[in-house]
Amino acid sequence: MRLITCRNISAGYEDGDVIKGLSFEVQPGDYLCVVGENGSGKTTLMKALLGLIRVSKGEIVYGDGLNRREIGYLPQQSNIQKDFPATVREVVLSGCLNKLGRRFFYGPKEKAIAEENMKRMNIFHLADHSYRELSGGQQQRVLLARALCATSKLLVLDEPVTGLDSATAEEMYQLIDRLNKEGITIIMISHDLTEVYHHAGKILAFDRNVFFGTVEDYVQGKRVMSHD
Ligand SMILES: Nc1ncnc2c1ncn2[C@@H]1O[C@H](COP(=O)(O)OP(=O)(O)OP(=O)(O)O)[C@@H](O)[C@H]1O
Ligand SMILES: [Mg+2]
Repeated sequence: MRLITCRNISAGYEDGDVIKGLSFEVQPGDYLCVVGENGSGKTTLMKALLGLIRVSKGEIVYGDGLNRREIGYLPQQSNIQKDFPATVREVVLSGCLNKLGRRFFYGPKEKAIAEENMKRMNIFHLADHSYRELSGGQQQRVLLARALCATSKLLVLDEPVTGLDSATAEEMYQLIDRLNKEGITIIMISHDLTEVYHHAGKILAFDRNVFFGTVEDYVQGKRVMSHD
């Protein structure tokens, strides 16, 4: 049973489609990396998967009991977000927003989920600290805990190690590996091909021609091309 099937999808903004006729699928347990130049449409694709923008053609089918409101999302960071005036606990709790239904306030259940995920990401001791005073690596762990509040199935991570030094980035990759081994499916946008080779199983590359397949086949294809 596939988790996500994208059939020939096109998506974009008022001035036209950025993604055109894209097809790929995600199986439960996959670790899929999405790579491509700046502006190639990686974030746009994530927004389409999350239902934040509509596809203009084709269809996205969710399977294996996945509801698109239950996808954990770590958005691409901007400097404004780094300065967000809230405590760590509040930022993590906001990952439970889709669980509220018609209620306005977080209850004991959501608070317990937030606490569990802060512990899981080793940031519980920072719960009452201000988010904007944390280091870049701590902030990314907070956002990962937030994304985990929304899901036990699928995490969508948009460049989760941008701006981190190499040791902190490696820690982040280890955390993501661990979550994948625990059974959570990962879709991660990355700029770092070396890390993709080390961690991901499948790759969707917005190169001149779109490639979707295993990382091994992608590397093989690049080798063949470089020998031409
Ligand atoms: N809200 C928006 N309204 C209109 N155009 C947009 C919007 N967001 C992105 N675009 C345009 O869509 C194209 C793809 O943008 P997108 O953010 O998906 O690229 P990306 O691959 O994630 O790039 P990066 O690596 O820089 O994050 C770009 O040309 C961008 O200018
Ligand atoms: Mg982007």
